Amino acid sequence: MEQKLYEGKAKIIYPTDNPNILLTEFKDDATAFNAQKRGTIEQKGEINCKISSVLFQLLEKQGIATHYIDQPSAKQMRVKAVTILPLEVVVRNIAAGSLCRETGLEEGTNLPFPLVEFYYKKDELGDPLLTRDRILILNLATLNQLEQLQNKALAINTHLKTFFNDCKITLVDFKLEFGLDSEQNLLLADEISPDTCRLWDQSQSEESDDRVMDKDRFRKDLGNVENAYQEVQTRILSQFKLT
Ligand code: C5P
Repeated sequence: MEQKLYEGKAKIIYPTDNPNILLTEFKDDATAFNAQKRGTIEQKGEINCKISSVLFQLLEKQGIATHYIDQPSAKQMRVKAVTILPLEVVVRNIAAGSLCRETGLEEGTNLPFPLVEFYYKKDELGDPLLTRDRILILNLATLNQLEQLQNKALAINTHLKTFFNDCKITLVDFKLEFGLDSEQNLLLADEISPDTCRLWDQSQSEESDDRVMDKDRFRKDLGNVENAYQEVQTRILSQFKLT
């Protein structure tokens, strides 16, 4: 294997012979709270690679441009090389996590419209919430890119919400990352997995921790993390076959 180009908390990026193509390897390592909590989730690399591959293909079918090319092995995804914008784009349908902590909204509150929020991808600052003007002043994106990001995030939410609902899973919220290719096209990048989404099982009772099928099981020490990730994969794969 060639020299690593970059190693993050959950993935390693390798170069390939083609400068326009990169290889992403998904790791079993799990971190939370800006890497203050660390662990491993068995099979996570393979599961998140598979789930992300399926969701990127689903979105491509709906006309959303992504960095996805193919999945050459269980833990690896070939992707188009992009320059990642230093923004985390979070879409929320239901109040949970930092939205509840920072606004006092009760967990589980249905939001009247999907909330799109931008966070600064900067570990040393703790990934703070940004405003439109802060983004422009910091040159993190142009106004035109911001509008594109907002529209793409909302379209992705519509497609994913419907698909997860067909899997009997409620898409509470999720985080997206975008990058620019050599022609300045904005592509959806990174991953979409139980590490980056809040997913609640519709077959479990409301307000029970049993419904949690995502990284909150690891963050809150709820146990059965692997089983939950496996179950998301199983439902997604069988639903994807029907699309
Ligand atoms: O923590 P918060 O409630 O703001 O997270 C919103 C959503 O974004 C959650 O689904 C969480 O898993 C995801 N997220 C992420 N990576 C981060 C921060 C949040 O995937 N660095």
